[in-house]
Amino acid sequence: MQKPRKLYVKSFGCQMNVYDSQRMADTLAREGYEETQDPADADLVILNTCHIREKAAEKVYSELGRLRKAKQEAASDTMIAVAGCVAQAEGAEIMRRAPVVDLVVGPQSYHRLPELLAEAKTGKRMVDTEFPVEDKFNHLPAPSLAVTRSRGPAAFVTVQEGCDKFCTFCVVPYTRGAEMSRPVARILDEAARLVDQGVREITLIGQNVNAFHGEGEDGSTYGLARLLERLARIDGLARLRYTTSHPRDMDDGLISAHRDLPQLMPYLHLPVQSGSDRILAAMNRKHGREDYFAIIEKMRAARPDLALSSDFIVGFPGETDADFEDTMDLVRRIGFASAYSFKYSPRPGTPAADRDAQVPEDVKSERLAVLQKELEASKAAFDAACAGRTFDILLEKPGRQAGQLIGRSPYLQSVVVNDPPARIGDIITVTITDVGPNSLAGRCEGVAPSRAPTDSLAPLEA
Ligand code: SAH
Ligand code: SF4
Ligand code: F3S
Repeated sequence: MQKPRKLYVKSFGCQMNVYDSQRMADTLAREGYEETQDPADADLVILNTCHIREKAAEKVYSELGRLRKAKQEAASDTMIAVAGCVAQAEGAEIMRRAPVVDLVVGPQSYHRLPELLAEAKTGKRMVDTEFPVEDKFNHLPAPSLAVTRSRGPAAFVTVQEGCDKFCTFCVVPYTRGAEMSRPVARILDEAARLVDQGVREITLIGQNVNAFHGEGEDGSTYGLARLLERLARIDGLARLRYTTSHPRDMDDGLISAHRDLPQLMPYLHLPVQSGSDRILAAMNRKHGREDYFAIIEKMRAARPDLALSSDFIVGFPGETDADFEDTMDLVRRIGFASAYSFKYSPRPGTPAADRDAQVPEDVKSERLAVLQKELEASKAAFDAACAGRTFDILLEKPGRQAGQLIGRSPYLQSVVVNDPPARIGDIITVTITDVGPNSLAGRCEGVAPSRAPTDSLAPLEA
């Protein structure tokens, strides 16, 4: 019998890459590949790369250097593929700089992986970074029951891809192409199948997820709010989330969905990037700071237990101390439960990279440190205020000690629970007893009434 071939996929960057990596693994499962966690054991290594900042993009070359060395030492014939946004942005350069690479495949061509791989195996180095006319999603197979179970009860589903917003700092419109939304029926099918296989929580993902405008079952165009409302009707789907949103597309329908759909978690990642009107305009974000405050106010009115997270860029070209102070003021006024913050990184081909008024590196570092201190304090305050509160937790994996399980709160905090009378995939009610820097701990008060409709199936293994 032929032994199964082994695939090792490493994802960098955003959740869309995580989803894409899974779909590549699902596609290659049909070709007889099984996933392994050990690159040394793999017949095929795929690096699914991110181009968003220079540091992220450079990681691929150091990773390739390591792989080359390991391959030489073991005298192995492991195939090496580079996928994702660096593949899309600099496929030819990867081929030039890294002779160890057999195959470069852009995000819109993953459905072509089997053919590309077959060609590459004949010794031809392959590059496919086209934006093909056919929709890859129609050709990417679904995971098997065993694979879905191994991935746990919280899953991602891409509903929208690409971006037409062209923020002046961002590579995504170039690496992922024009905005496109998947048809509603396909999303519902994918979600229903996942739920049948034991999934309890789905996060809808897209670079601009709230700009979703997919074709509905009746031929009309659905926005994200209507899509969420349809998904909320799937029996057994206990939790819905979506990410990442743009403030411009936070319409009243979507805000109302937070009031009307109990499945929709009270947690929103809504990147603002800067608190300065001047900088927001220079970034081409097409909204001001007051617009952001107004959205948050409406959201909190619709869902009083809402918590927020955001992304920030410091040191965008032309950013003065006063602009930065506006960002700090916004942070203090909103009180984020969590946030990501970055130093501006000039990206080739984006308008801001060519601006004269680049901010010196040491000023960027200083501002980042000040901002991160404030954001960390804000997160710590939010976490501390969770002590004594009672939440529903979706149990996702075993903890470090025997009997422990780890789940996620509505706010995506990790919560450790000792010996709950429940198993992975269950939702339990927990009172938070301890707050640590990276996770919370809680006492189980009982199993929430809505159990998975999959009780007749074998328990989910971690
Ligand atoms: N679509 C999302 C963001 C996708 S990129 C949105 O519109 O908000 C994820 C985050 O990376 C961005 O929110 C931004 O904070 C950061 N980012 C993007 N380009 C960057 C750059 N050139 N330098 C530094 N950070 C950047
Ligand atoms: Fe990039 Fe802006 Fe599009 Fe977000 S909205 S992906 S930051 S161009
Ligand atoms: Fe990175 Fe591409 Fe995502 S650039 S953040 S992997 S869309």
